[in-house]
Amino acid sequence: MYFPEYRLRRLRKDDNFRRLIRETNLLVDDLIYPMFVVPGKNVKKEIKAMPGIFQMSVDTALEEVREVESLGIPAVILFGIPEKKDEAATEAYAENGIVQTAIRAVKQANLSTLVVTDVCLCEYMSHGHCGVVQNGQILNDVTLELLANAANSHVEAGADMVAPSDMMDGRVAAIRSGLDHIGYNDTPIMSYAAKYASCFYDPFREAAESTPEFGDRRSYQMDPPNALEALREASLDIEEGADIIMVKPALSYLDVIYRVKEEFRYPTAAYNVSGEYSTIKAAAANGWINEERAVIEILTSIKRAGADMILTYHAKDAAQWLK
Ligand code: PBG
Repeated sequence: MYFPEYRLRRLRKDDNFRRLIRETNLLVDDLIYPMFVVPGKNVKKEIKAMPGIFQMSVDTALEEVREVESLGIPAVILFGIPEKKDEAATEAYAENGIVQTAIRAVKQANLSTLVVTDVCLCEYMSHGHCGVVQNGQILNDVTLELLANAANSHVEAGADMVAPSDMMDGRVAAIRSGLDHIGYNDTPIMSYAAKYASCFYDPFREAAESTPEFGDRRSYQMDPPNALEALREASLDIEEGADIIMVKPALSYLDVIYRVKEEFRYPTAAYNVSGEYSTIKAAAANGWINEERAVIEILTSIKRAGADMILTYHAKDAAQWLK
């Protein structure tokens, strides 16, 4: 049937009709809130390029996790900024490293929020790269052991899930076998499977103090024009034991989210990254955009593309708006 008999506007004219035919419902259940933990006490330092997001010491972070729990957000993902950085990323797998300490604090406080940890070395390396550097090259295979050590130290401290974001080849298998070896075969891995070398991470690097000292991350993160390669990345990570596969960033890669979800039908995450957040915050601060409507529209579009869960700095605001 066509116009004038069939009219799509019939089911748009009232909010109740719109609710009945709505295909995608964004829920607080879909959200994961990223947090940056730093050494010290009573620290709450706003990240300039990310208004509303702070570097926090463990005590302050704990209060924020409490808030996240009370908002009904299922999970946080922790990033650590260590006291000292070196060429072996020692603090990334130190028993009393910053992330390990934060995990223990959340677990001791008996909060039900899932604690996911980002597993990477860039925040802990003096040169800011995600792997071991030799003669200006980022070495893949020797990095794997350090990543596995970091993941092990996180789960031993109580992490509920680890999320490798380094983009070394073979790291999911290395982490899986590391976890299994120490008896954590029940702990899932959320792999940053298709992680692109994106300009949208710039504000994060201020937050995590992880800007590379030389060069960039293009020799290990994906080239933005490629989508089929993302399917190969996801397929390998699944083979290696990933439980959740992630596409990152989200907004310039909605097609990739869609393809990955269609191809594998695996639990799929998308990372609505720092630069995507900052862009909206800047426009909203200037009165150029309605922040609430923009955020809900964006997060809904990421879910509509196929994401089951969204890592987003907007999580706390979105949870309030979704009430
Ligand atoms: C660590 C890591 C990065 C992000 C998550 N994990 C930065 C990078 O790869 O440079 C970016 C997150 C964001 O921009 O919000 N490798």
